[in-house]
Amino acid sequence: MQRPLRSRTACPQSFHGQSGVMQQPAQSSTNFDVIAVVPPGLEDAAAAELSALDAEEVRPLRRAVALRTDLAGFYRLHLQARLPFRFLRQLARFPCADRQALYRGVQDAADWPRWLPPDTSFRVDASGSSRELSHSHYSALQVKNALVDWQRQHWGERSSVDLDDPDLSLHLHLSPGGGPRSKARGEGQAMAVLSLDGGGASLHRRGYRAAMGLAPLKENLAAGLIALSGWDGHVPLCDPLCGSGTLLIEAAAMALGRAPGFWLEADGQSRARPFALQRWPDFDPLLWQQEVTAAQALERRSLADGTPLAPVIGMERDPAVLAQAQANVGAAGLASWINLRQGDGRDFEPPEQAGILVCNPPYGERLGEGEDLEQLYADLGQMLKQRCGGWTLWLLSGNPELTGALKMKASRKVPVSNGGLDCRWLKYEIR
Ligand SMILES: C[S@@+](CC[C@H](N)C(=O)[O-])C[C@H]1O[C@@H](n2cnc3c(N)ncnc32)[C@H](O)[C@@H]1O
Repeated sequence: MQRPLRSRTACPQSFHGQSGVMQQPAQSSTNFDVIAVVPPGLEDAAAAELSALDAEEVRPLRRAVALRTDLAGFYRLHLQARLPFRFLRQLARFPCADRQALYRGVQDAADWPRWLPPDTSFRVDASGSSRELSHSHYSALQVKNALVDWQRQHWGERSSVDLDDPDLSLHLHLSPGGGPRSKARGEGQAMAVLSLDGGGASLHRRGYRAAMGLAPLKENLAAGLIALSGWDGHVPLCDPLCGSGTLLIEAAAMALGRAPGFWLEADGQSRARPFALQRWPDFDPLLWQQEVTAAQALERRSLADGTPLAPVIGMERDPAVLAQAQANVGAAGLASWINLRQGDGRDFEPPEQAGILVCNPPYGERLGEGEDLEQLYADLGQMLKQRCGGWTLWLLSGNPELTGALKMKASRKVPVSNGGLDCRWLKYEIR
């Protein structure tokens, strides 16, 4: 079924050709299944974000969200979704008992003359396993072999594999089957899903962060943490240990409607970043332009209701890291809205209007080893209680003993994973 174009898509002028003749608006295709790969712990927040972007049949899974959308929606998700690492568009789903079934299933999975002619480079990634296919590296090789064998039979030549910048990024996911859910769907057996990765590179790389600070958060995790905090730009947001500024940049970008799929180019213009889906044979440039224009139209210099963005303030003790944060804020085009200062977070003086503090202090795993971190947390706790009454603190903790030194009681604890480390996003109401 064709979905109507959304009202906030491009204005009719954007469909005028150079001749001045009105071209037909691009048409979206039928819906297809997509898996959004998301940071662990952010599945529900990501599901809410993707639903708000008009994805359909949205279902949070483990480290992923299942959804359905059409081509226009798929473009919109790439341009506007802040939380996912990648979107995988399903090509085929088939029973996959063993390696022969995988080989045959892959060859039958798609219209390969269209998707993978020999002058198209590709790569294959694999995740999951089944009883007979327990090594994902081997399963990925089996997919590659099935495809190049098929190509040789049809054309006498094959595509090259390009791990860095392939035209087509294929993803295989294997599930063992036999669980109650798969049985209910009549899938007692192992299943394979073959998909295309629409972004190519991981979507957390927004392009503003040449400088990475020490132990930076990934941009999509930072965006998810801000989403969980509920900050909407109306009250101040401060990070007294801001590192390379990721939390503040993602927060301000969100409040000002800056779509994460855009970056500032050398000429100072904001343009859509390149995505793998633009090299696909069904890429629809008019539809893409429609979504690019719609995403661009969301960008504002104030909040959606016209009020100015409340102060966004960061402090960082290390001058070299502060300089990196400043470079990142500039590269994100947010220097007019984010105020960064050098200093010890323990000396933080909050603005008069109470707001939200976010903080990702060192917790000893990668950063701060050898430092008296317990003392740092104890001092921060004291500073917060003395100066920040009425504020809300959200702190990313990778070490419960250290957070104990704050001597504050968390009112909410959200389990998240930061670069593989089990963490908690802790909420404190400061009295
Ligand atoms: C885990 S990093 C924060 C990373 C940040 N969220 C990002 O994405 O880049 C902790 C930062 O706190 C800074 N820091 C440590 N102690 C501090 C203090 N007392 N005052 C201010 N900054 C401090 C470190 O220099 C480091 O940049």
